[in-house]
Amino acid sequence: MDEPERGSTPAAGLASGAGVVSVEVRTGGGPGGETSSGYPVHVGIGALEGLAREAEARIPRVRLALISDDTVAALHADAVEAPLRAAGRDVHRFTFPAGEARKSRAQWAALTDGLLAAGFGRDSAIIALGGGVTGDLAGFVAATYMRGVPVVQIPTSLVAMIDSAVGGKTGVDVPAGKNLVGAFHPPAFVLVDPRFTTTLPRKERAEGLVEAIKHGLIADAAYLEALERDAPLLLDGDIVATFHAVLRSVEIKADVVSRDEREGGIRQILNFGHTLGHALEARSEYRLGHGAAVATGMVLEAWVGEVMGVTLPGTRDRVEAVLSRFEQGGHIPSAWPDAPDVASVLALTRSDKKARQGAVRYALLSHVGQADSAGGAWSHAIADDIVTRVLGAAFFSESDSG
Ligand SMILES: NC(=O)c1ccc[n+]([C@@H]2O[C@H](COP(=O)([O-])OP(=O)(O)OC[C@H]3O[C@@H](n4cnc5c(N)ncnc54)[C@H](O)[C@@H]3O)[C@@H](O)[C@H]2O)c1
Ligand SMILES: [Zn+2]
Repeated sequence: MDEPERGSTPAAGLASGAGVVSVEVRTGGGPGGETSSGYPVHVGIGALEGLAREAEARIPRVRLALISDDTVAALHADAVEAPLRAAGRDVHRFTFPAGEARKSRAQWAALTDGLLAAGFGRDSAIIALGGGVTGDLAGFVAATYMRGVPVVQIPTSLVAMIDSAVGGKTGVDVPAGKNLVGAFHPPAFVLVDPRFTTTLPRKERAEGLVEAIKHGLIADAAYLEALERDAPLLLDGDIVATFHAVLRSVEIKADVVSRDEREGGIRQILNFGHTLGHALEARSEYRLGHGAAVATGMVLEAWVGEVMGVTLPGTRDRVEAVLSRFEQGGHIPSAWPDAPDVASVLALTRSDKKARQGAVRYALLSHVGQADSAGGAWSHAIADDIVTRVLGAAFFSESDSG
């Protein structure tokens, strides 16, 4: 892919200098699609200070419903609501219990009923304050309430800042699988203030940073090096290092989704590590976190790429080395004390919603910092026997891998 625009990120270490930077995401982009409008993502230490002004510019006069899980609401909702109230805005707060289990149809129903009971009409907007669960759930409420009202995404977890708040995908989990019911609903704007992450537990930080490593691997080798260098700072929650990482990831994701909003083409590269990652996550019955599962998935998919002759030899070793700096399960046996059986993992790759017409497709790396374009298809159909070989070698005979 072309080098994404560099924004203001210095090439030096991530921990130097700060400021609020606005990254534009174009909507309606895609193979053959017209590019007409878009939304800004404001990233910066202190970006929250611009909320009332931006709300006045982009969602004036409407009533505001702030949706947040109870953990995040207790920590941060007052700081978000106060400046809006001071600016004369009507803000109602709706909370739900934290956790993936609440990204459900039942919670969507409870929230929409709550909005109806509080008299919210067409002249409403939703503020989604929280992690990816809140962003997806509140975004889906906004997508469907009164046939759609605006949503402002204010991510508070690293996963949400680095990944889920940008791109417009919203939805809920259902018994048949995660994210299977949802809608594209681009936000009115996104406000990313890294100060929220100071209250984030270290484990949540480490898991979220896996998606940043993914961005480096698919699009920017220099960014990957900066992440590797600043790993201890990032894990400790250094606010300036976090700002620079979040900004670069937002730039990369914004660039990719602006070119392909609906995932017909280049957006598939964001799935690197996720075909096998999702299968492993599901196989563990979600005891394995998403970040840890994707970490292992990236190692395995780099391996698949090397076996296919698509990925430069040695890439898998580099992926493992970077992940080990982030205390993630890049080293497969330690992440998997109980090796999953290959057949069930393979079966789970087939139930991934991205599997089309039976052929399981994988986004692969060309080399570190560059996803493989696959001649413009941006993913490869990989035969089961290749994946079987790699999974077998990874989980049962590390020594004869290669
Ligand atoms: N829409 C997309 O494109 C997209 C992309 C990636 C992930 N996702 C979704 O995101 C979800 C995972 O996101 P997540 O990891 O943020 O989950 P989450 O929203 O459950 O947050 C994780 C935990 O951290 C807490 N938390 C969040 N911010 C905090 C803060 N600042 N301080 C203290 N605690 C805080 C939450 O209360 C929660 O307990 C999944 O449902 C996944 O499907 C969506
Ligand atoms: Zn992911």
